[in-house]
Amino acid sequence: MRKQKILTVEPKGSLFYLKTYGCQMNKRDSEVICGLMAEAGYRITDDSAKADIVIFNTCSVRQHAEDKVWSEAGRFKKGKIIGVVGCMAQNYGQDIFERSPNVSFVVGPADIEKIPGIITKLSNDKAIFERKIFEIDSLARPEKIYHTNFYEDKNHAFVVISEGCSNFCSYCVVPYVRGHLHNRNYEDILKEIQGALEKGITRFTLLGQNVNAYKYDTLDFVRLLRLVDAIEGLEEFSFVTSHPRDTSVDLFKAMNDAGKLKKYLHLPAQSGSDRILKLMNRGYSRKFYLDLADNYRKIVKAGALTADIIVGFPTESEKDFKGTYDLVKAVRFNAAYIFKYSPRPHTEASRMADTVPKEEKEGRHRLILEMQKEISNKVKRREYEKPE
Ligand code: 5AD
Ligand code: SF4
Repeated sequence: MRKQKILTVEPKGSLFYLKTYGCQMNKRDSEVICGLMAEAGYRITDDSAKADIVIFNTCSVRQHAEDKVWSEAGRFKKGKIIGVVGCMAQNYGQDIFERSPNVSFVVGPADIEKIPGIITKLSNDKAIFERKIFEIDSLARPEKIYHTNFYEDKNHAFVVISEGCSNFCSYCVVPYVRGHLHNRNYEDILKEIQGALEKGITRFTLLGQNVNAYKYDTLDFVRLLRLVDAIEGLEEFSFVTSHPRDTSVDLFKAMNDAGKLKKYLHLPAQSGSDRILKLMNRGYSRKFYLDLADNYRKIVKAGALTADIIVGFPTESEKDFKGTYDLVKAVRFNAAYIFKYSPRPHTEASRMADTVPKEEKEGRHRLILEMQKEISNKVKRREYEKPE
């Protein structure tokens, strides 16, 4: 978190520096941490050298994200309170203290509420500071953490609608570090939006690993969209991320009807090979995805479409890769994020041999990236600059 923009609590205590890695969910979690720290009287700083406390809010989704944290955390001298929180904390637990001896506390995503209390204990008691603290056992977060009213941006807020994921895609660490899907009560979600509106924020992004699976009592995601669209004073909103299996023509119709909704869908395809999609446990076929993309374009007028793609999943052959390449070419995404497969702890896929050589993964990555670059340039001009 670089800047604190709308902090209302009078700061008085020690200085903390917070660095965020990974997705928008982590960005929001960092705001929550800032809000809780501010309530406890700590002050934020942009300058890690001046800080008494350094917190890394970490990501485990790919190896690369973790490598950056291991090297950063090792950079700080003994004496500061250094915390590793978020997904890596859950992933590695106490092992972090061995690998990075400067670290003094480790807190998993469901325990972030405890961070200010842990820091107070570490500051006041040398014996505890030497012994270190770790907390990774909670299953759910208390609702109140979402209501500290700390937002980094004064015009836009991220609002978590669901935590965790129960899909267990075979390559993905998220269900292991963020737990099962847990939907927030829509009344709490609306209350949080109301609180942000009162601070003058008018643009929102609804967040979840699989927002389309949202359900609370009888209220599903389509109905939540309608409720949010009807909020007085709210000017624009969007949502991320969608799962093709839980995405439907009904959602597209609701998207087209919702006047305040940004016409944008991030719909990770991951692969264009039926064989690989099955091994990934994605629960849809290549044809299902292509039909979905087609329907989206027909129903949601001038809608932008983006995707995530993984190349080099275990056993991915030239033919499988061609399936993915052709899918990306056919759909003409506004943008696509291409990732090289990396085995993640706990996952099904990590028990399969990582068969595609590094150079081959890099080659496949480059081929799709170059093709997509050309498409993005053309599609953007057509669909962003001259909407129907
Ligand atoms: N290797 C490579 N990419 C991955 N992703 C998730 N897990 C892995 C992994 N083990 C990608 C997926 C997901 C995005 C957030 O990260 O494409 O949609
Ligand atoms: Fe991971 Fe799949 Fe859940 Fe996305 S939907 S967070 S890829 S398990």
